[in-house]
Amino acid sequence: MIKIGRVTVSLEMREAYLDDRLLQVGSRAFDILELLIEARGKTVTKDEILRRVWPHSVVEENNIHVQLSALRKILGADKLTIRTISGRGYRLTVPTEGNEAAALPGAAQGGQTGATRLNGLPVCHAPLIGRDGAIAEITRALNGTPIVTLLGPGGIGKTQLGIAVASSIAAASDLEVCFITLAAVDNAQGVVSMIAEALGVGRAADDVTLHSLVAAVQGRKLLLMLDNCEHVIESAATVCELLVQASADLRILATSREPLRTRDEKFYWVAPLDTPDAEAGSQAILASSSVRMFLAQMRALNADVETDPGSLEMVATICRRLDGVPLALELAASRAAVFGIRKTVSGLDDRFQFLTGGRRTAPPRQQTLEATLEWSYQLLGATERIVLHRLGIFPARFSLEAACAVAACERLSSHEVMEAIVGLASKCVVMTTFDSKTKEYFLLETTREYALRKLYESDEGDEVLTRNATYLAPFYEPPYEQPYGRGFRAATLGNSLAAESVASR
Ligand SMILES: Nc1ncnc2c1ncn2[C@@H]1O[C@H](COP(=O)(O)OP(=O)(O)O)[C@@H](O)[C@H]1O
Ligand SMILES: [Mg+2]
Repeated sequence: MIKIGRVTVSLEMREAYLDDRLLQVGSRAFDILELLIEARGKTVTKDEILRRVWPHSVVEENNIHVQLSALRKILGADKLTIRTISGRGYRLTVPTEGNEAAALPGAAQGGQTGATRLNGLPVCHAPLIGRDGAIAEITRALNGTPIVTLLGPGGIGKTQLGIAVASSIAAASDLEVCFITLAAVDNAQGVVSMIAEALGVGRAADDVTLHSLVAAVQGRKLLLMLDNCEHVIESAATVCELLVQASADLRILATSREPLRTRDEKFYWVAPLDTPDAEAGSQAILASSSVRMFLAQMRALNADVETDPGSLEMVATICRRLDGVPLALELAASRAAVFGIRKTVSGLDDRFQFLTGGRRTAPPRQQTLEATLEWSYQLLGATERIVLHRLGIFPARFSLEAACAVAACERLSSHEVMEAIVGLASKCVVMTTFDSKTKEYFLLETTREYALRKLYESDEGDEVLTRNATYLAPFYEPPYEQPYGRGFRAATLGNSLAAESVASR
């Protein structure tokens, strides 16, 4: 479902609703609406409309105007979301509400939405589930700090959250918004060129210098959303710092698996969606955001959704085992829509094989669970990779001390292990907890399975288990037996390990 102001649109069903009332949208008007939605805020030319809506006939341009005015009439109070770009075509802007945005540079007076410009900002598809608090908090952070970075592992929802924040700010202010994804660039010049293009400086290498970017942001009330900074982190950091120092009216909302570490930056760790407890009843299960997202995703695929207590418990298990990570839930829901919930639960034992087949339109790194992990893994240093493999043996939280005992060896000092863990935590591959007196770490279950597979492939499994057994021995009554036996096999180790809270002592 897609929200355009107060109107909700289902592209799958080709239906639009105002509140709960079905709106009468003619087929041609709906085609145009669909085209505008697919363009994600970009201008759709009249030619594109003619080709899509009247593919087999030559018609007067006037027909477009007729359909457009019908569409605007249907949208009623939200008709201004379809803007006419003089001489070129039409573009969709999406107003949403956001009080926090009122304090930002360029905030609209008296709550009026000004001439918002959403350069390339994707349209918010279905409202984000479980993120209202986060949207308000991030918007507040942008009031006081020029750069806010959304951090978290792949698939946790950074991009969607960033888009929702930017849309909400744009709707409540006349701030110009530029959406830039750095996923496809791999060097400093690429970063500069992408930003330059979005700012309207031009892209030709000769025209584009840092100086031209600085000139382009001055005098503009601007929010830059810089998506996917992690693989060009240094270049992104340099440009961001330079730009915010050049203009007090500039805000940057970055997403990354690692902090930019610039002078004027606040971090926001994007949390997984909440998951139901093991003892949760049907009501509590249905109230949890991961379950709501999973079920919404299944419904969007027109799957039959059973909500009897047995089915709900299985859904809760899926959400827990996927740690509430939205991308994993989305992949699992698409499997459940085909194979059913029961088969999906058992499929999670081999999640990398099972959770494939993401949306065709998603970037390749989001098409499968494994590809998401691979993208992060490629960004790790050699020592970080080795340490990650070894940390895979921890089924629950672990302390730095336990990690060093297990991961350090003759070839790798404790100091190097510590450095690697700090690196892994800052890249959001290892998660950190702050809720105890001492800092503890853990791996999301999917990351852990991935690490275990790599450990197994590296043939280091037995060695690491032996070190773990030696470390754990004093915590047990003698004689201590190694819990997993020798002949380590990642596949059997996978989910069969009991939670070893002692590992974190
Ligand atoms: N709160 C949410 N509610 C519904 N779907 C979500 C939510 N967060 C993320 N998603 C979906 O999960 C997938 C991964 O989210 P994305 O923002 O691309 O993650 P990231 O940028 O952290 O890799 C996307 O397809 C997105 O639509
Ligand atoms: Mg992203």
